Amino acid sequence: MPHLDIINLSADYAHLKVLSGVSLSVEKGEVVCLVGPSGSGKSTLLRVLMGLTLPTAGAVKVDGREIDYHSKASVRAARDRMAIVFQQYNLFQNMNVLRNITIAPVEIKGRPRREAEEEGRRILARMGLAEKHAAYPDQLSGGQQQRVAIARALALKPEILLLDEVTSALDPELVNEVLDAVRGLAAEGMTMVIVSHEMAFVREVASKVVMMDKGKIVETGAPRELIDRPKTERAREFFGKILRH
Ligand SMILES: Nc1ncnc2c1ncn2[C@@H]1O[C@H](COP(=O)(O)OP(=O)(O)O)[C@@H](O)[C@H]1O
Ligand SMILES: [Mg+2]
Repeated sequence: MPHLDIINLSADYAHLKVLSGVSLSVEKGEVVCLVGPSGSGKSTLLRVLMGLTLPTAGAVKVDGREIDYHSKASVRAARDRMAIVFQQYNLFQNMNVLRNITIAPVEIKGRPRREAEEEGRRILARMGLAEKHAAYPDQLSGGQQQRVAIARALALKPEILLLDEVTSALDPELVNEVLDAVRGLAAEGMTMVIVSHEMAFVREVASKVVMMDKGKIVETGAPRELIDRPKTERAREFFGKILRH
């Protein structure tokens, strides 16, 4: 049974059809990378999974269990199992790093503060930020802040992590420290769906690459197949453009 099963999923923004019949299954521990031109629906797909945008048709199952996006309890249960990190890391500026990470587990999940802080420090160490627990966001680089945002998502103990262009807002020299943290999670067997334009990284971590265009999946394959030998004209054109520079 797939860990995450997306079946014929559609979504609209007003009258604009943004996702049309997207189907994708993700096995436990698999890293699926979503690529495709801007506006193709990649972010919307992740937003629908999290219940931030309502689907108009189709189904999403986690471990075979369908999420009812019209039920608050069902969406809450889904958000217990999946977490998302965006390009804009949006940390709380008035809280130190450890507090940024522990506030949701303590205030929303009701975990004991001491336990959440111990766990928070462990996660910070995994993100290479053990020394930064008392720092405030404005004392950190963009790459460090984005790693704090990933740590914050991990503190909710998700089984499935969704990453939406987490390196796109970073200066080039800071991209790798964030990708290294994500590589670590992949090596530990975290199930992930990653939107990224970093093709060398996609090639390395993806078990499967999915190319989207105009709200649909155009082509799916192992990185070597899809990136190097695309079968569709649309994918050839896309990779031809982005791999040239
Ligand atoms: N909040 C919104 N309201 C209306 N249209 C939106 C909204 N967000 C995205 N869109 C539109 O939906 C389409 C898909 O966007 P998006 O999922 O952000 O694509 P991608 O992440 O692949 O760039 C685009 O045409 C975009 O303009
Ligand atoms: Mg996007």
